[in-house]
Amino acid sequence: MHSFVIEGGRRLSGKVRINGSKNAALPILAAALLTDQPIKLRDIPNLADIKNMLKLLSELGCRRADEPADGTFGDGSLTLRSVDESLSHARYDIVRTMRASICTLGPMLARRGFARVSLPGGCAIGERPVDLHLRGLASLGAQITMNGGDIIAKVPSGGLVGNTVFLGGPFGSTVLGTANVMSAATLAKGVTTIECAACEPEIVDLANMLNKMGAKISGQGSPRVVIEGVAELGGVDHRVIPDRIEAGTYMMAAAVTNGEIILENCPVDSLLAALHCLDTIGVHVEACNAVASNNPHKSAHRGCEDALRCCVRVTSDRILRPVEVTTQPHPGFPTDLQAQLMTVLSLADGNSVITEKIFPDRFLHVAELSRMGAKCIRHGNTVVITGVRKLVGAPVMASDLRASAGLVLAGLAAEGHTVVNRVYHLDRGYDRMEDKLRALGASIQRIDEKDVPADLVAAGA
Ligand code: EPU
Repeated sequence: MHSFVIEGGRRLSGKVRINGSKNAALPILAAALLTDQPIKLRDIPNLADIKNMLKLLSELGCRRADEPADGTFGDGSLTLRSVDESLSHARYDIVRTMRASICTLGPMLARRGFARVSLPGGCAIGERPVDLHLRGLASLGAQITMNGGDIIAKVPSGGLVGNTVFLGGPFGSTVLGTANVMSAATLAKGVTTIECAACEPEIVDLANMLNKMGAKISGQGSPRVVIEGVAELGGVDHRVIPDRIEAGTYMMAAAVTNGEIILENCPVDSLLAALHCLDTIGVHVEACNAVASNNPHKSAHRGCEDALRCCVRVTSDRILRPVEVTTQPHPGFPTDLQAQLMTVLSLADGNSVITEKIFPDRFLHVAELSRMGAKCIRHGNTVVITGVRKLVGAPVMASDLRASAGLVLAGLAAEGHTVVNRVYHLDRGYDRMEDKLRALGASIQRIDEKDVPADLVAAGA
């Protein structure tokens, strides 16, 4: 297992390019199961989760046309084709490493009439049930049973039939549940209306790609998505949207180091809540070349020529101000930036409050940040953060992907050395984070856990 050793206190400056979005790419890759035609995808990020999804799709009969010997996808492009539709079992071995495996369920069911997908268990950020996915697919007529920890879904003889499907749960809609039902409904007979659909940009990207494949989806990005079923879908050439969470993470890295970072390929319009929050704190995000044109794709907010793939400069005031933030479904503040924001607020001048409304237990980073001197008190799904003048390096344990990112940011800001253990969590969602941070001036090394110097393991700084 690898660790990061970070020597904090360096001001970050320079340019970083944001990858294609992990959470858009995962259901988009699974959509290859909806057709036997080739799917060409661009800007696929080189991440552990993507490699796992490609492994799963290969077990489900998809082949890569352009696979290099080392299994990578150098420039982010790859072509997938489903060639054996008899393989429909997503095994526990893979599903337990990556919950997003569940998004193969809808596509397999719709195209192959049968799917067996291991039920994902809980994970570090909470319970994460899939009842809404199953309820949605059952509304289209799927017959669903459980056996040996697997979900077994079959299409009745008449095929899936469009219906009105309500996808609201106790914490709002479901992103991957919307992806599953929307994908399955593209091949159902008649019209499906998803009420309380997830409005996340990743769902819009999936719908746009499915439409290019011949689907008839409208309303994506709103809580009502309407899908008119078609007989079959064809191939496509699609470029995945940039990763709003990676972009937000680097903005916050600039904030905690009082840095000045330029982000290329940044989806500003998907980050409005985060930008509003950062503005209040004293972190400023401006278009590198603001334009005044009539381009309909221009960002209404920041004056960028292309709101989806913008170039922005991030700077921050010396003194960060406290805020009150609640995580919400899009377009609210994303839960996937909550841990990183907590690190920023632990250095703000005053008391901040974060309330987590998507995953109420997503707070494993609180205890680790406290080891570095942060003052955080948790009550249920709320954490009160009293800003401190400085964080102090310590050995800390990454527990999940975004918590790890929060700890890396803390290490960049802290005095002395921080060792972040178990960075395999981070590799699931950030491509070469240490290289990108080093290029911005950070002192950060990836080393084998057993090679971490004893004095750093024992006492931190
Ligand atoms: N929920 C239910 N029943 C369901 C499904 C979800 O009650 O059937 C609840 C969940 O427990 C949670 C809420 O609904 O409280 C929202 O969960 P959602 O289904 O939207 O999450 P997801 O689709 O499994 C995706 C992202 C997560 C991100 C969430 C919320 C992917 C691969 N994952 O998960 O990303 O946090 O949406 O935005 O797209 C990450 O990248 O670090 C990550 C965890």
